[in-house]
Amino acid sequence: MRSDAKTDRATILALLAERRDFVTGVELSRHFGVSRTAVHKHIKKLIEDGYAIESQKGRGYLLRPGQGDAFSGDGISILLDTKWAGRNLLFKDTTGSTNRDVMDLAEDGAPHGTVVAAGHQSAGRGRKGRSWQSPVGSTVSFSILLRPDYAPDTAPMVTIVMAMAVMRALKKVTGLETAVKWPNDVLINGKKVCGILTEMNVQGSSIRYVVIGVGVNVNIEKAEDFPEEIREKATSLYLETGEKVSRSRVTAECCNAFEELYDIFSRDLDLRSLTEEYNSLLVSAGKPVRVLDPKGEYTGISGGIDRLGQLSVKREDGETVRVSGGEVSVRGIYGYV
Ligand code: BTN
Repeated sequence: MRSDAKTDRATILALLAERRDFVTGVELSRHFGVSRTAVHKHIKKLIEDGYAIESQKGRGYLLRPGQGDAFSGDGISILLDTKWAGRNLLFKDTTGSTNRDVMDLAEDGAPHGTVVAAGHQSAGRGRKGRSWQSPVGSTVSFSILLRPDYAPDTAPMVTIVMAMAVMRALKKVTGLETAVKWPNDVLINGKKVCGILTEMNVQGSSIRYVVIGVGVNVNIEKAEDFPEEIREKATSLYLETGEKVSRSRVTAECCNAFEELYDIFSRDLDLRSLTEEYNSLLVSAGKPVRVLDPKGEYTGISGGIDRLGQLSVKREDGETVRVSGGEVSVRGIYGYV
């Protein structure tokens, strides 16, 4: 059966990546059952997408590892190791908001696991009505569609599941230790590297769909490139590692980890199997925090989360309270975390 051009390209890329040596055009054309002209066109498109492919007469094509930051649909697809997450994938160089895009696709009947990824957003949305900046060429913005059949009050927990997926993914890609500021800011060395925004469409007492949007600061080169108000608190993978990181890989590894963790969550319908890992990465655990509850602020010592994702805080009067997300914020008393 003939595959489509996109699949051919992804498969050619996979073969080049695996071989780590020159592969002749003849071999590629025989292997994939396409003409040499078609192979040449695919290589050209891959190079346009940013892959560092060298071509030598008589020797063929060589994919130079670790060069460039090719962010593309093909680049993500090839690295996916999932059954449903990202299997329906739409890539955009630039868009308004990937959360908005996925909501539009959801209204048109897109399947569970649909992902929209973009290299830049012009109207990125953050939590609490804030905006989310994603400078061209250096960030990952992606959103995933879920079509669950659990009750709406279960859905906020998926944000925690995604935060765990991002932590696993970033650790895998960079080797750096990651941490979480409850409920879902992912940190490296105490600074925010990723934000997550979950939006839900409910009809009556049922969820129509949930969209989880993830923004990762990947290759931002200078602290000055962040908006002034978050400069002290934000970081990027490049600033932490000193190396450019593949945005396709970051996106794909987030999807891979998310599918694994979300399947566990969907079985339990709570976080019982995940709290231990989450709490081991929670920056506030055992530290003094200020809880900004609209009904009244108070301070206490943070514990961990329970199976519903609520944070336990031991107040100064000795009472232990369970804090839910939403309107409540928790701040470290001695700084951002
Ligand atoms: C936060 O305020 O910390 C959450 C930021 C979430 C940003 C992501 S980027 C992809 C998706 N699309 C959006 O418009 N926002 C989310």
